[in-house]
This record gives sequence, structure tokens and C-alpha cells, in this order.
Amino acid sequence: MYTMMSIRIYLISLILFISCIDLSDDDNQRNNTLPIQTSFKVEDFSSAEECAGCHPQHYAEWSSSMHAYSMVDPVWLKQQNMQQAHNSVNGIEIGDFCVQCHSPVAGLTNLIENHIDLTNDVINSLPAQVKEGVTCDACHLTTHLPSPTNISIDNHNYETTEFKLYSSDTRYGILDNPIENDFHKSVYSSDYDKSEFCQNCHNLTVDNRDAETTQFEWEGSAFQAMGVECQTCHMPLYSGKAAITGPDRDNLHRHFFPGIDEALIDFPRKVEHRVALEDLLLTAAEINLFETPPDTIKSDTVWNARLIISNNTGHNFPSGTSFPRQLWIEVFAIVDDDTLLASGFLDARGDIYDFYIDPDRNIDPQLNIFNTILYNTEGDSGLLKVSVENMVEMVNNTLPVSDSRIVDYSIQIPSGMNGQLELTARLRFRSFPPFYLRHLGLESLIENVNIFDIDAISETVYVSSN
Ligand code: HEC
Ligand code: HEC
Ligand code: HEC
Ligand code: HEC
Ligand code: HEC
Repeated sequence: MYTMMSIRIYLISLILFISCIDLSDDDNQRNNTLPIQTSFKVEDFSSAEECAGCHPQHYAEWSSSMHAYSMVDPVWLKQQNMQQAHNSVNGIEIGDFCVQCHSPVAGLTNLIENHIDLTNDVINSLPAQVKEGVTCDACHLTTHLPSPTNISIDNHNYETTEFKLYSSDTRYGILDNPIENDFHKSVYSSDYDKSEFCQNCHNLTVDNRDAETTQFEWEGSAFQAMGVECQTCHMPLYSGKAAITGPDRDNLHRHFFPGIDEALIDFPRKVEHRVALEDLLLTAAEINLFETPPDTIKSDTVWNARLIISNNTGHNFPSGTSFPRQLWIEVFAIVDDDTLLASGFLDARGDIYDFYIDPDRNIDPQLNIFNTILYNTEGDSGLLKVSVENMVEMVNNTLPVSDSRIVDYSIQIPSGMNGQLELTARLRFRSFPPFYLRHLGLESLIENVNIFDIDAISETVYVSSN
């Protein structure tokens, strides 16, 4: 899997459309006789509202999820418009490139006419199935497992996300002996329990170079070997009714799909989504002292405090769109009123002194942040510059799957010092840094971004001048 600093070429360019999805590639997973549809109308998909009456629990959870948010997500909307404008200046049409995963119904039906100035008003005028982003039927009409997505800049082939759906009055799922209802037939499919189910959207390569590779990170890991799928962690089991008229069942799956994001605008059930998110993040990683510190440290020496951070997620941490994420360590070493070390602290605007704010590492030289950075030939970042097609490399500093990282903090103990040194460290995580939202012109949303403290330690060491 990944090495600590695997440098991978990244070249995402933004790109374009093609209405017909290649479905010639037969499902080789198993001999599945269910049909696959090749062209779609909006009416082939029902709105989630139509499911709500009989599946209130599933609807409620899904409606708080990022899947329901993906087409009205203001960060997404800004980014997609910037990518469109940038490419258009260079004579390139990227069409449904972003839409295809963020609103499969819009992508599959070519419903968006003007991609350049996609506004909330335009989105609000679209049919519900489109506004609903990754809506129920984008998943529950799936008849075969899709492949991961590779787009090609070289071949100008940009709208390649595969959907193996068939629209009929049947919905597929994992229930044994589903009871009948007037709206749809129910058919069991074991595919819904597998990670591959998610990979058309959750694994993106660009001319076969890694871009957002959550599925690839999971593949070959101990989690795969143990049968711990994406659904195991992101759709945990509970007992209840799958439908209001149905029997009690003990194998239902939560539909909150927590990750790191929370809706930054008014959105249903934020409180419930936060609880699901906190439950997930509680397990995400651990921070510990790697070496037991000595009972006493002499003054006028340098103490090297070693921390170990272990990743417990089913993939790298962060994963997917890891470029804007911030996962970092905040460390303080304090003796009475003297701060001997401070790292990972926030400035007055809520930023940390990372690559973007402090490229020369003058202010916080010991900062440890685990993310990916995209560079072009001038060294500029891909996060702030839209010209991602000019990317020449991606530095991957995420925590690798099933692995840990050891980091050192050197703490200079002044001469003549006596007292108790309090060392505290927190592993902190947030979806977006303030500078990025300011850059997008979304500063009013900054206050809605929460920082989650994944784990923390504190340790007391004695400092003596004798
Ligand atoms: C292959 C499917 C796919 C394509 C194509 C795609 N995305 Fe995404 N996008 C995703 C997935 C999946 C996530 C969630 C991943 C994560 O949170 O790590 C995501 C997350 C994002 C986010 C972060 C959203 C948030 O609120 O945290 C932004 C912004 C975004 N995408 C913008 C874009 C833009 C702009 C494009 C087109 C240039 C695009 N995406 C194309 C699948 C895709
Ligand atoms: C008229 C009520 C009704 C409506 C409307 C309805 N369903 Fe269902 N659905 C049911 C019942 C009843 C079951 C079976 C529940 C059980 O046996 O526990 C079911 C089962 C399912 C299953 C499990 C299928 C399986 O075999 O595992 C899925 C998935 C599903 N529905 C999705 C949807 C979606 C998506 C919509 C909206 C497009 C929807 N349903 C609309 C009543 C309904
Ligand atoms: C062992 C549990 C586990 C498994 C298995 C797992 N995840 Fe996660 N996932 C987590 C945790 C914990 C987080 C929060 C930390 C993070 O962002 O990585 C997370 C975060 C995410 C995110 C947000 C990542 C980000 O940083 O923006 C996405 C998207 C995601 N998972 C998708 C998947 C997919 C797709 C699979 C299957 C290939 C999967 N997960 C398998 C536990 C798991
Ligand atoms: C991103 C894909 C996705 C979306 C969107 C989605 N589901 Fe599901 N759903 C699944 C998967 C996958 C399973 C089975 C999970 C497993 O077996 O591990 C499932 C299971 C179900 C089941 C079977 C009972 C259970 O809880 O396992 C029902 C009913 C259901 N979903 C209804 C809905 C409804 C209604 C919506 C929209 C309001 C919806 N789903 C949205 C992927 C999705
Ligand atoms: C049709 C495309 C599609 C499919 C299929 C899909 N997802 Fe997603 N998923 C997305 C997009 C797009 C986002 C990000 C939306 C946003 O934030 O704007 C997302 C977000 C998520 C997140 C939240 C990430 C975060 O940063 O908080 C998780 C977790 C997740 N998906 C898990 C899954 C799992 C598990 C499956 C399979 C059962 C799945 N998804 C199937 C498109 C998809």
C-alpha cells in the first residue's frame, strides 16, 4: 500500500461529457441475468419523497447525509463553477464531469444545459430526483456491481462513471423474504453488502493515476480480508422495521453515511447526523506516547517527545477528497507560565500554519498535518489554483490504512528550570480550513465548520536543574 510519503503523479483535469455510458463491459463478478439499462429519462427514477411514506426511517437518515447534500453543497457548487470557467477559457468543455457522481440522475439524463453558471436557482428549478443528489434510486436500481472510475485527459474521455442500473418497478436490497407492497417488487442482491458497490463514485483515477482512491486503499487491507466492507462502518446495523408495514428485523442498515462533512447550510437533521459522525470518529485513530518519558528531564537539554498515531479507519485517513481536509496534531509543552512548545494552534482567523499559510514553516516548524498536497511546476497548490490539469505531483502525507506514524517534537528545556512539564496533544480533524472557504468566497460558512478531536493525551514530566 502507501509508503509514508509516496509521491504520486496527479493530473486531474476537468473535463467533459459523453452521454452514453459504456455498458458493454459485462459483469464478471457472477452470472447475473438482471438487465442493465443504457439510456435514461428523469421519470425512470422516483424521488426520495416517494419512498418516505413507507420507509420513514431510511428517508430521515438519508436526508441528513452528504449523499442528499451533494447537489446543493455550496462548496461543491463553487468548485464546479470555477472548474467549468477555467476550462472554458482554455476551450475545453467539461460538461457533466462533476455532476455525474454528485447527481447521477442529472448526469444520466443530460438535464443540465448550462454548466458554466450553475446556480442555486437553476438547481432548485430541476426535478426532485436531480436536486436530491445521490438519491435512493441511484443506488437501489443497481443490478450489477460497477467498476471504479478512470477518466482520461489523454483521450478526452471525462464522463466515464459507470452505473449499472435497471429502472423498473423493482427495488433491490438485502432483505430475506421481503413482504409485498403496492409500489415496488423487492429482490435480494448480495452485491449491496460489498465495498465494490460504492466504487464507481468512491474511486477516481485520472489516466490511471491515483486521485481519490478510497476503494483501492481498502483493497488488500486486513479489513477486506476480514470482510469489513464500507457498509460495515458507514452503514452500521440496527433493529427496527425496514418499512412501516414490514416485520421487525435485526439486520437493517443506517443511512446517515457519516464521514467528516456536515452540511454547512440549513439542512435536515443536523443533530442526528452529528451524533452518527461522532460515533464514527470516536474509532478513527489513536494518539499515544511512543516512548515512556523519563521521570525527570534535566534542564538545558532537548527532550524529544515521540508520539505515535494509529489509523483505525478502513482506508487512509483522510481519504477521498483529502486535499482540503485537515487532520493535524496540536501539541503544547508548558512549565508553569512558560510555553516551551506550541504546535498546531489556530491563528486569529482559525487557520493553522500549514503549507498554505506558512509555506516556509517559519511560524510552526514542527507542525504535523496528514493530508495530500497537489503541486504544479511553480509549486503552487492545487487547492487554491483551479488549474489542476497542470498538476505534476501529489504528495501523500495521509495516515496509511492499518498503519501508524511516529512523529517527533523537540522541546528545548531552558537552563535553570525546575517544575512540572505538562505535555498535551490532540489529534484534530476538520473538513475545510477557513482560508479555503475564504478563497471560495464562502467566509460566512466558516463558523459552521466543526473541529473534531479524535483523540488526546496528557503527560506530566518533572524538570530539574540538578
Ligand atoms: C467519480 C465520482 C466523482 C466525480 C467525477 C467528482 N466527484 Fe466530487 N466527490 C465525490 C465523492 C465520492 C466525494 C466525497 C469524498 C470524501 O468526502 O472524501 C466528493 C467530494 C467532493 C467535494 C467535497 C465536498 C464536501 O462538502 O466536503 C467537493 C468540493 C467536490 N467533490 C467537488 C467536485 C468537483 C468540482 C468535481 C468536478 C471537477 C467533482 N467533485 C467530481 C465523487 C466525485
Ligand atoms: C407503499 C409502500 C412502499 C413504498 C412507497 C416504497 N417501498 Fe420499499 N419496501 C416496502 C416494503 C413493505 C418493503 C419490504 C419490507 C420488509 O419486508 O421488511 C420494501 C423493501 C424495500 C427494499 C428492500 C428490498 C430487498 O429485497 O431487500 C428497498 C431497497 C426499498 N424498499 C427501496 C424503496 C425505495 C428506494 C423507494 C422509493 C423509490 C421505496 N422503497 C418505496 C414498501 C414501500
Ligand atoms: C473500519 C471502518 C471503516 C471502513 C471499512 C471504511 N471506512 Fe470510510 N471512514 C471510516 C472512518 C472512521 C472515517 C473518518 C475518518 C476519515 O475521514 O478517514 C471514514 C471516512 C470516510 C470518508 C470521508 C473521508 C475524508 O477524509 O474526506 C469516505 C468518503 C469514506 N470513509 C468512504 C468509505 C468507503 C467507500 C469505504 C469502502 C471502500 C470505507 N469508507 C470503508 C471508517 C471506515
Ligand atoms: C449510496 C447508496 C444508497 C442510497 C443513496 C440509499 N441506499 Fe438504501 N441501502 C444501500 C445499501 C448498500 C444497502 C444494504 C447495506 C448492506 O447490506 O450492507 C441498503 C439497504 C436499504 C434497505 C434494506 C433494509 C436495510 O436497512 O438494510 C432499504 C429499505 C433501503 N436501503 C431504503 C433506502 C431508501 C428509502 C433510500 C432513500 C431515502 C435509500 N435506501 C438510499 C445503499 C443506499
Ligand atoms: C452515485 C455516486 C455515489 C455512490 C454510488 C456512493 N456515494 Fe458516497 N458520496 C458520493 C458523493 C458525491 C459524496 C460527497 C457529497 C458532498 O459532500 O458534496 C459522497 C459522500 C459519502 C460519504 C461522506 C463523506 C464525508 O466527507 O463526509 C460517505 C461516508 C460515503 N459517501 C459512503 C458511501 C458508501 C459506503 C457507499 C456505498 C454503499 C457510497 N458512498 C456510494 C457519491 C456516491
